Amino acid sequence: MKNVVVIYKSKYGSTKKYAKWLSELLSCDIFETKNINIEKVLKYDTIILGGGLYACNIAGISFFKKNYKELQKKNLVVFGVGATPYNDEVIKRL
Ligand SMILES: Cc1cc2nc3c(=O)[nH]c(=O)nc-3n(C[C@H](O)[C@H](O)[C@H](O)COP(=O)(O)O)c2cc1C
Repeated sequence: MKNVVVIYKSKYGSTKKYAKWLSELLSCDIFETKNINIEKVLKYDTIILGGGLYACNIAGISFFKKNYKELQKKNLVVFGVGATPYNDEVIKRL
């Protein structure tokens, strides 16, 4: 897929592993959030952002928040990688 990119933030490597699997499955580009900027990302139509969960926050989500004005017309997908068992309250907060 040419028009899809996976970007991720991973402290200990778990999210990195999922992000790599996704990019391999989709045959798309992959970047760490620290190595990208909004200009680079705007050339894609679908942007998948993954981050580890820390204190019920998704690492790297600030990239979407900070650049939401430019990104709002794109297809945005977010996934989080955490260690907490499934919980409706946590999902709602996220
Ligand atoms: C300080 C700290 C806070 C964490 N908070 C959460 C949390 O709120 N929810 C959760 O599901 N997992 C939590 N975890 C577990 C991590 O999300 C989990 O280890 C994840 O795989 C880390 O992703 P990464 O390896 O890509 O950095 C926490 C881990 C640490 C060290």
